[in-house]
Amino acid sequence: MADSQAAVIETERLLLRRLTPDDLDALFALYRDPEVRRYFPDGTLTYEETKAELEWIIDVYYGKYGWGLWATIHKPTGAFIGRCGLLPWTIDGQTEVEVAYLIAKEYWGQGLGSEAAQAIVRYGFEQVGLSRLICLIEEENQASQHVAAKIGMAFEREIEDKYGRAMMYSITRPDGA
Ligand SMILES: CC(C)(COP(=O)(O)OP(=O)(O)OC[C@H]1O[C@@H](n2cnc3c(N)ncnc32)[C@H](O)[C@@H]1OP(=O)(O)O)[C@@H](O)C(=O)NCCC(=O)NCCS
Repeated sequence: MADSQAAVIETERLLLRRLTPDDLDALFALYRDPEVRRYFPDGTLTYEETKAELEWIIDVYYGKYGWGLWATIHKPTGAFIGRCGLLPWTIDGQTEVEVAYLIAKEYWGQGLGSEAAQAIVRYGFEQVGLSRLICLIEEENQASQHVAAKIGMAFEREIEDKYGRAMMYSITRPDGA
C-alpha cells in the first residue's frame, strides 16, 4: 500500500500528499469558511458533508483513478493550508479533468495557489498522461481566473449544468500528444 504521507507533488513551498481520514478536522476548517467557499455552488459544508466528501476522495478518486484532490501542506510551517489536485467531470458527454485549487485565506496572495496549480498541471500532463486540463470558474471569481491564466489556461466557453453556470478555461498538453 502506498505511504499516505509521501509527497505526490513537491514544489518550493508546498507538498501535496494524499488525504487521510485524519485530515477531516483540517479539511472542515477550510470547508466551513464562507470566504473560502464563496464561489462554490454548494457553499460551506457541514462536518458530515466534509466527512462524506473526504471518504469519496479516498475511496473513489484514489481507488478508481489513483489521483484526486490532495492535502496541501505549507513546507515552511508544516501547516495544512489547502486541498488542491485533479478532479474528473463529465461535461457534454466528455470526460474532462479539472485543476482544482483551494487555499486557506490566511495564505492568499503569496503565489501559493499558482504554485500548486502549476505543479498540478505538470503532474496531470507528465505523470497521469492527460492531454487536456480544464478549470471551471464562476464569473465573479477573479482570483481563480488569475490563477488559471498564470498557469497557461485560456478561456474556452461558458458551460451550464446542474451546478449552475461556469466559465471553462482549458490548456492542452504542449506536445499536442
Ligand atoms: C483561488 C485561490 C486558490 C488563489 O490563491 P492565491 O494563493 O491567493 O493565489 P496567488 O497568490 O497565486 O495569486 C494568483 C493571481 O491572482 C491574483 N489575485 C489573487 N487574489 C485576487 C483577488 N481577490 N482578486 C483579483 N486578483 C486576485 C493575484 O494578484 C495573482 O496575480 P498576479 O501574480 O498577476 O498578481 C484562492 O483565492 C482560494 O483558495 N480561493 C477560494 C477557493 C476557490 O475559489 N478556488 C477556486 C475555485 S474555481
